[in-house]
Amino acid sequence: MDDLERLADEVRTAETVVAFTGAGISAPSGVPTFRDDDGVWEKFDEGQFTYGRFRSDPEGFWDDRVDLQREMFGDDYEPNAAHRALAEMGLDGDLEAILTQNTDGLHGRAAEAVRDESRRTEEVHDGAESAVEDGDGDGRTNGTDTALLELHGNAQRVRCTDCGKRRTADPIFERAADGALPPTCECGGVFKPDVVLFGEQLPRAVLQRARSLARESDAFLAIGSSLVVEPAASLPRVAASTDATVGIINLEETPCDDVADIVYREDVTEALPRLQDLVAE
Ligand code: APR
Repeated sequence: MDDLERLADEVRTAETVVAFTGAGISAPSGVPTFRDDDGVWEKFDEGQFTYGRFRSDPEGFWDDRVDLQREMFGDDYEPNAAHRALAEMGLDGDLEAILTQNTDGLHGRAAEAVRDESRRTEEVHDGAESAVEDGDGDGRTNGTDTALLELHGNAQRVRCTDCGKRRTADPIFERAADGALPPTCECGGVFKPDVVLFGEQLPRAVLQRARSLARESDAFLAIGSSLVVEPAASLPRVAASTDATVGIINLEETPCDDVADIVYREDVTEALPRLQDLVAE
């Protein structure tokens, strides 16, 4: 039995499974990571994208934000096999929540794609999304939705800083590419990328929900993250502190490897589809 099979056994018998993901899960989709050799922070500086600069130098901020958006999301990127494997686990009722640091929206797109495929292949039953009786006695219901918490927000949207109204980001970036600032909101407020900028706090409610999910989890999977950015990076320790089985799937070492029960050094597009198959057995 290899480590992934051991991890699958733990996930299969766990009551509450939570996945935490970072840029490494989207790397196979062509979205650059932040700290690898060709990472975003080799080409940009965090100081270009602070909340303070957004306020004090909006022209410069939006200029650089357009370049960052092109660098990160320029090509038509799609969810990869790892995103889909987590979405399948969600559809099978094997995943309570996905907590992601990524702002690329790929988990949401994978969940939609997997749900559409399942609708196309099975007769749609009314209320299929709601919890159904646990048919196989494993203590988990099937068909329940998996919560998706985008801890750092979603770069495909902008949000008004006054009224909170959200809009798709594309037209805003098209304008910014021509040097024009975003239009003001109907309420008179200004739009900012719907992401947590440096110098901003994570929304308290989101962070509290993420921490309680980590505490409640019986199995916590940290996938494709260097686990160096707080407060998210402490979630594996929170899970370990309440006796969850912690599994880390990452190509490189992380500062949380010491609290992990299982550390699996494998590409996410190999590891996660196999994990999903093993759990579904
Ligand atoms: N399979 C498995 N692991 C991978 C793969 C892959 N195909 N590709 C990269 N990795 C691993 C790398 O080894 C690295 O440890 O993913 C990790 C990505 O780490 P980071 O680039 O630091 O990304 P992340 O952990 O998500 O960064 C957290 O930092 O700057 C902020 O807001 C930014 O959300 C980001 C946060």
